[in-house]
Amino acid sequence: MPRTLAEIASSHDTDKPQSNYIERYVRLFEPLRDQPIRMLELGVFRGGSLAMWSEYFPQGTIVGLDLSPNPLAQMPARTHFVQGSQDDVALLDRIGDQFAPEGFDIIIDDAAHIGTVARTSFLNLFPHHLKPGGIYVLEDWGTGYWPSWPGGAMFRNRRAEISALAQQTVGPDGYPAVDPNFTCHNFGMVGLVKELVDEVGWSDICCVRGNPDEEKRPSMIEEMSIHPGQVILRKSSR
Ligand SMILES: C[S@@+](CC[C@H](N)C(=O)[O-])C[C@H]1O[C@@H](n2cnc3c(N)ncnc32)[C@H](O)[C@@H]1O
Repeated sequence: MPRTLAEIASSHDTDKPQSNYIERYVRLFEPLRDQPIRMLELGVFRGGSLAMWSEYFPQGTIVGLDLSPNPLAQMPARTHFVQGSQDDVALLDRIGDQFAPEGFDIIIDDAAHIGTVARTSFLNLFPHHLKPGGIYVLEDWGTGYWPSWPGGAMFRNRRAEISALAQQTVGPDGYPAVDPNFTCHNFGMVGLVKELVDEVGWSDICCVRGNPDEEKRPSMIEEMSIHPGQVILRKSSR
Protein backbone atom coordinates (compact mmCIF):
# COMPACT_ATOMS: atom_id res chain seq x y z
CA MET A 1 0.00 0.00 0.00
CA PRO A 2 1.66 3.31 -1.01
CA ARG A 3 2.01 5.95 1.72
CA THR A 4 -0.39 8.90 1.72
CA LEU A 5 0.92 12.37 0.88
CA ALA A 6 0.50 13.36 4.55
CA GLU A 7 2.59 10.38 5.65
CA ILE A 8 5.24 11.14 3.05
CA ALA A 9 5.31 14.86 3.91
CA SER A 10 5.75 14.21 7.62
CA SER A 11 8.86 12.15 6.95
CA HIS A 12 10.61 14.81 4.83
CA ASP A 13 12.10 18.19 5.63
CA THR A 14 9.41 20.45 4.13
CA ASP A 15 7.21 23.08 5.78
CA LYS A 16 4.13 22.15 3.72
CA PRO A 17 2.46 20.05 6.49
CA GLN A 18 2.37 23.17 8.75
CA SER A 19 -0.51 24.52 6.62
CA ASN A 20 -3.54 22.92 4.93
CA TYR A 21 -1.56 22.66 1.70
CA ILE A 22 -1.22 18.90 1.86
CA GLU A 23 -5.02 18.30 2.01
CA ARG A 24 -5.56 20.48 -1.05
CA TYR A 25 -2.70 18.85 -2.92
CA VAL A 26 -4.26 15.44 -2.24
CA ARG A 27 -7.57 16.57 -3.76
CA LEU A 28 -5.80 18.05 -6.78
CA PHE A 29 -3.11 15.48 -7.43
CA GLU A 30 -4.61 12.11 -6.42
CA PRO A 31 -6.06 11.51 -9.92
CA LEU A 32 -2.57 12.13 -11.36
CA ARG A 33 -0.66 10.04 -8.84
CA ASP A 34 0.24 7.12 -11.11
CA GLN A 35 0.70 9.21 -14.26
CA PRO A 36 4.11 10.07 -15.76
CA ILE A 37 3.60 13.73 -14.78
CA ARG A 38 6.22 16.45 -15.12
CA MET A 39 6.39 18.86 -12.22
CA LEU A 40 8.43 22.03 -11.67
CA GLU A 41 8.80 23.47 -8.17
CA LEU A 42 10.29 26.95 -7.81
CA GLY A 43 11.98 27.11 -4.40
CA VAL A 44 13.63 23.99 -3.01
CA PHE A 45 15.12 25.09 0.34
CA ARG A 46 16.45 21.91 2.01
CA GLY A 47 15.09 19.66 -0.75
CA GLY A 48 12.38 17.99 1.35
CA SER A 49 9.57 18.75 -1.08
CA LEU A 50 11.54 17.29 -4.01
CA ALA A 51 11.92 14.03 -2.08
CA MET A 52 8.23 14.16 -1.12
CA TRP A 53 7.02 14.63 -4.73
CA SER A 54 9.40 11.95 -5.98
CA GLU A 55 7.84 9.37 -3.65
CA TYR A 56 4.26 10.59 -4.17
CA PHE A 57 4.47 10.43 -7.99
CA PRO A 58 6.22 7.10 -8.65
CA GLN A 59 6.24 7.74 -12.43
CA GLY A 60 6.83 11.49 -12.20
CA THR A 61 9.73 13.67 -13.27
CA ILE A 62 10.35 16.40 -10.69
CA VAL A 63 12.45 19.51 -11.35
CA GLY A 64 13.43 21.98 -8.62
CA LEU A 65 14.87 25.48 -9.09
CA ASP A 66 16.52 27.54 -6.37
CA LEU A 67 18.81 30.56 -6.02
CA SER A 68 20.94 28.60 -3.57
CA PRO A 69 23.09 25.59 -4.49
CA ASN A 70 21.61 22.10 -4.50
CA PRO A 71 21.04 21.10 -0.84
CA LEU A 72 20.82 17.38 -1.63
CA ALA A 73 23.96 15.26 -1.70
CA GLN A 74 21.98 12.49 -3.36
CA MET A 75 19.09 13.25 -5.67
CA PRO A 76 15.84 11.31 -5.12
CA ALA A 77 14.72 9.15 -8.05
CA ARG A 78 13.59 11.03 -11.17
CA THR A 79 14.39 14.46 -9.69
CA HIS A 80 16.60 17.21 -11.09
CA PHE A 81 17.94 20.41 -9.57
CA VAL A 82 18.73 23.67 -11.38
CA GLN A 83 20.37 26.64 -9.66
CA GLY A 84 19.18 30.12 -10.64
CA SER A 85 16.54 32.75 -10.12
CA GLN A 86 12.86 32.27 -10.79
CA ASP A 87 12.76 35.54 -12.76
CA ASP A 88 15.49 34.50 -15.22
CA VAL A 89 13.19 33.84 -18.17
CA ALA A 90 15.97 32.52 -20.43
CA LEU A 91 16.74 29.93 -17.74
CA LEU A 92 13.04 29.06 -17.38
CA ASP A 93 12.86 28.52 -21.15
CA ARG A 94 15.89 26.21 -21.00
CA ILE A 95 14.33 24.23 -18.13
CA GLY A 96 11.06 23.90 -20.06
CA ASP A 97 12.80 22.84 -23.26
CA GLN A 98 15.02 20.31 -21.46
CA PHE A 99 12.63 18.69 -18.99
CA ALA A 100 9.14 19.25 -20.37
CA PRO A 101 9.13 20.00 -24.11
CA GLU A 102 5.39 19.18 -24.17
CA GLY A 103 4.83 21.36 -21.10
CA PHE A 104 4.74 20.67 -17.35
CA ASP A 105 1.57 19.16 -15.84
CA ILE A 106 2.13 20.95 -12.53
CA ILE A 107 4.10 24.07 -11.55
CA ILE A 108 4.37 25.18 -7.92
CA ASP A 109 5.84 28.58 -7.07
CA ASP A 110 7.19 28.35 -3.52
CA ALA A 111 10.24 30.59 -4.08
CA ALA A 112 10.65 34.34 -3.42
CA HIS A 113 6.97 35.14 -2.63
CA ILE A 114 7.56 38.63 -4.05
CA GLY A 115 4.81 39.86 -6.38
CA THR A 116 6.91 41.29 -9.21
CA VAL A 117 9.29 38.31 -9.20
CA ALA A 118 6.48 35.72 -9.08
CA ARG A 119 4.69 37.62 -11.87
CA THR A 120 7.76 37.32 -14.14
CA SER A 121 7.82 33.54 -13.61
CA PHE A 122 4.08 33.25 -14.13
CA LEU A 123 4.02 35.29 -17.35
CA ASN A 124 6.70 33.06 -18.84
CA LEU A 125 5.81 29.64 -17.44
CA PHE A 126 2.00 29.69 -17.55
CA PRO A 127 1.57 30.44 -21.26
CA HIS A 128 4.75 28.77 -22.57
CA HIS A 129 5.69 25.84 -20.31
CA LEU A 130 2.45 24.56 -18.73
CA LYS A 131 0.28 22.06 -20.60
CA PRO A 132 -3.30 23.04 -21.50
CA GLY A 133 -5.37 22.00 -18.48
CA GLY A 134 -2.21 22.04 -16.32
CA ILE A 135 -2.12 23.24 -12.71
CA TYR A 136 -0.13 26.25 -11.41
CA VAL A 137 0.01 26.95 -7.68
CA LEU A 138 1.18 30.13 -5.97
CA GLU A 139 2.08 29.46 -2.35
CA ASP A 140 2.24 32.00 0.48
CA TRP A 141 0.55 34.85 -1.40
CA GLY A 142 -0.45 36.39 1.97
CA THR A 143 3.08 37.84 2.26
CA GLY A 144 1.58 40.79 0.35
CA TYR A 145 -0.17 41.77 3.61
CA TRP A 146 3.11 41.86 5.56
CA PRO A 147 4.72 45.32 5.72
CA SER A 148 8.06 43.67 6.53
CA TRP A 149 8.06 41.57 3.32
CA PRO A 150 9.47 42.93 0.03
CA GLY A 151 6.56 44.48 -1.88
CA GLY A 152 4.12 43.78 0.96
CA ALA A 153 2.20 46.49 2.82
CA MET A 154 -0.01 46.87 5.87
CA PHE A 155 -3.71 46.28 5.18
CA ARG A 156 -5.92 49.23 6.12
CA ASN A 157 -9.56 48.40 6.57
CA ARG A 158 -11.25 51.32 4.80
CA ARG A 159 -14.81 49.97 4.70
CA ALA A 160 -16.22 52.41 7.26
CA GLU A 161 -14.44 55.37 5.63
CA ILE A 162 -15.73 54.42 2.18
CA SER A 163 -19.31 53.77 3.39
CA ALA A 164 -19.34 57.25 4.93
CA LEU A 165 -18.12 58.73 1.63
CA ALA A 166 -20.81 56.84 -0.32
CA GLN A 167 -23.54 58.30 1.90
CA GLN A 168 -22.31 61.85 1.49
CA THR A 169 -21.74 62.10 -2.23
CA VAL A 170 -23.99 61.33 -5.17
CA GLY A 171 -22.47 60.84 -8.63
CA PRO A 172 -23.82 62.29 -11.92
CA ASP A 173 -26.03 59.24 -12.65
CA GLY A 174 -27.60 59.22 -9.24
CA TYR A 175 -25.25 56.50 -7.97
CA PRO A 176 -23.26 57.03 -4.83
CA ALA A 177 -19.78 58.17 -5.82
CA VAL A 178 -17.54 55.57 -4.24
CA ASP A 179 -13.77 55.69 -3.92
CA PRO A 180 -12.54 54.10 -7.19
CA ASN A 181 -10.14 51.93 -5.23
CA PHE A 182 -12.94 50.35 -3.18
CA THR A 183 -11.18 48.74 -0.22
CA CYS A 184 -8.58 47.20 -2.48
CA HIS A 185 -5.13 46.22 -1.26
CA ASN A 186 -2.84 45.75 -4.26
CA PHE A 187 0.56 45.13 -2.73
CA GLY A 188 3.08 42.36 -3.32
CA MET A 189 1.73 38.86 -3.96
CA VAL A 190 -1.79 40.14 -3.21
CA GLY A 191 -1.42 42.53 -6.15
CA LEU A 192 -0.39 39.62 -8.38
CA VAL A 193 -3.41 37.58 -7.27
CA LYS A 194 -5.67 40.50 -8.17
CA GLU A 195 -4.03 40.80 -11.60
CA LEU A 196 -4.82 37.12 -12.07
CA VAL A 197 -8.48 37.87 -11.30
CA ASP A 198 -8.31 40.36 -14.21
CA GLU A 199 -6.91 37.57 -16.39
CA VAL A 200 -9.85 35.31 -15.42
CA GLY A 201 -12.15 38.16 -16.54
CA TRP A 202 -10.26 38.81 -19.78
CA SER A 203 -13.16 37.93 -22.10
CA ASP A 204 -15.22 40.67 -20.39
CA ILE A 205 -12.31 43.10 -20.43
CA CYS A 206 -11.91 42.85 -24.23
CA CYS A 207 -15.61 42.48 -25.19
CA VAL A 208 -17.50 45.33 -26.90
CA ARG A 209 -18.88 46.59 -23.60
CA GLY A 210 -15.41 46.50 -22.05
CA ASN A 211 -12.19 48.05 -23.33
CA PRO A 212 -11.99 47.91 -27.14
CA ASP A 213 -8.28 48.75 -27.07
CA GLU A 214 -7.36 45.55 -25.24
CA GLU A 215 -6.24 42.42 -27.08
CA LYS A 216 -9.16 40.22 -28.19
CA ARG A 217 -8.45 36.75 -26.81
CA PRO A 218 -9.90 34.25 -24.36
CA SER A 219 -8.59 34.10 -20.80
CA MET A 220 -5.51 31.91 -20.24
CA ILE A 221 -7.09 30.76 -16.94
CA GLU A 222 -9.96 28.27 -16.88
CA GLU A 223 -10.31 28.14 -13.12
CA MET A 224 -8.82 30.00 -10.15
CA SER A 225 -9.41 29.16 -6.51
CA ILE A 226 -8.04 31.24 -3.66
CA HIS A 227 -7.32 29.65 -0.30
CA PRO A 228 -5.48 30.80 2.80
CA GLY A 229 -1.87 30.69 1.66
CA GLN A 230 -2.47 29.07 -1.74
CA VAL A 231 -3.85 30.13 -5.12
CA ILE A 232 -4.62 27.29 -7.52
CA LEU A 233 -4.95 28.01 -11.24
CA ARG A 234 -5.92 25.67 -14.04
CA LYS A 235 -4.78 26.62 -17.52
CA SER A 236 -7.43 26.86 -20.18
CA SER A 237 -7.62 23.80 -22.42
CA ARG A 238 -8.50 25.90 -25.46
C1 LIG B 1 9.85 28.41 1.25
S1 LIG B 1 11.42 27.88 0.67
C2 LIG B 1 11.00 26.50 -0.35
C3 LIG B 1 10.49 25.34 0.45
C4 LIG B 1 10.31 24.04 -0.32
N1 LIG B 1 9.53 24.20 -1.52
C5 LIG B 1 9.64 23.04 0.59
O1 LIG B 1 8.41 22.86 0.50
O2 LIG B 1 10.36 22.43 1.38
C6 LIG B 1 11.82 29.15 -0.47
C7 LIG B 1 13.06 28.92 -1.30
O3 LIG B 1 13.02 29.83 -2.38
C8 LIG B 1 14.33 30.22 -2.69
N2 LIG B 1 14.28 31.49 -3.44
C9 LIG B 1 14.09 32.75 -2.97
N3 LIG B 1 14.12 33.64 -3.97
C10 LIG B 1 14.28 32.92 -5.11
C11 LIG B 1 14.39 33.27 -6.48
N4 LIG B 1 14.31 34.55 -6.89
N5 LIG B 1 14.56 32.27 -7.38
C12 LIG B 1 14.66 30.98 -6.98
N6 LIG B 1 14.59 30.60 -5.69
C13 LIG B 1 14.40 31.56 -4.77
C14 LIG B 1 15.04 30.29 -1.35
O4 LIG B 1 16.44 30.12 -1.54
C15 LIG B 1 14.38 29.15 -0.58
O5 LIG B 1 15.16 27.99 -0.66
